Amino acid sequence: MELLDVLARRRSVRRFKPVPIPEEDLEKLLFALQRAPTDASAQLYSAIRVRDPRLRDEVARLSGDQEHIRQAAEFFLFLADVHRLERLLAHRGQRMAFWPRTALHFAILDAGIAASYLALTAEALGYGVCFIGGVLNGVEALTDLLGLPPGVLPVVGLAVGVPDEEGPPRPRLPRRLVVHEDRYRPYAAEDLEEAYRAMAPYSRVGDWNRVLRRYFAEGGTMEAREKPYGKVLSRQGFDPDLPQGAPFYSLGALLEEALAEARGVLFRKGEVWLEEEARAFRGEGRPGEALLMALRKARGEVPDWP
Ligand SMILES: Cc1cc2nc3c(=O)[nH]c(=O)nc-3n(C[C@H](O)[C@H](O)[C@H](O)COP(=O)(O)O)c2cc1C
Repeated sequence: MELLDVLARRRSVRRFKPVPIPEEDLEKLLFALQRAPTDASAQLYSAIRVRDPRLRDEVARLSGDQEHIRQAAEFFLFLADVHRLERLLAHRGQRMAFWPRTALHFAILDAGIAASYLALTAEALGYGVCFIGGVLNGVEALTDLLGLPPGVLPVVGLAVGVPDEEGPPRPRLPRRLVVHEDRYRPYAAEDLEEAYRAMAPYSRVGDWNRVLRRYFAEGGTMEAREKPYGKVLSRQGFDPDLPQGAPFYSLGALLEEALAEARGVLFRKGEVWLEEEARAFRGEGRPGEALLMALRKARGEVPDWP
């Protein structure tokens, strides 16, 4: 099918026939994935093809129990991956620079582009796909389940299979609200009304705001993902203020937890003192590292001395 026809007709598919994808098509999908452009040739992504049915079931359970993850002939988990790059540099005796935020930016982008290339190729071959951001619902357990080393982070899942449903393409915002010319144009109230009107058919009851509210307003799904995601970021080494492996959402969250247990915290250049009534615990290094060390000593998780 012509690419523009594929784009015009495509829609996410959430019901799949129990039919496998033949090897020659799978080969095309994996070829497409690796033909994606990538920052500085580095290929800062990996994909896991989740084949083991028990593992697939567990991934589905951790991703909001989405049945289409179980049903699809294939399921790929796309990962931001700077672990392989670190290994490649170390193999030539070089140390990776300190660039956690930029690494995250480019690795997520690389993973997303590669996933899109696979997805679009699958759709061009007549398969149905559904991206799965729900992999962030149980992101900590998923990271453990799949043995992801530091430097590797779940980005998005992709279910691919033979569609068992049909329907019209879903609506999009009016182009002029998405594509700006020369400078960013502020949104007027009429623009927002126009956006809701255009997107109304997305919702069964004709109210797109219900969808947005469920995900993005206070108390919505995204809010529930934020803290576990932040914890995984620091665990996997993508937080510039916390040492790799620190199971805290942010340096602020670590500080709050320390202050809940101690009388006070004293920051000095290169060291932190966590003060209890009669004792104080010292940590060394950058603020996050030093505070974590002091807190672990206060909790008896690491020896205070030597
Ligand atoms: C990053 C991302 C995450 C998504 N996560 C999910 C998901 O967890 N479950 C699901 O059923 N659909 C998911 N989708 C599919 C979107 O809901 C879908 O693309 C959107 O509603 C537009 O519909 P369309 O693709 O049919 O045009 C995701 C899509 C993207 C791009």
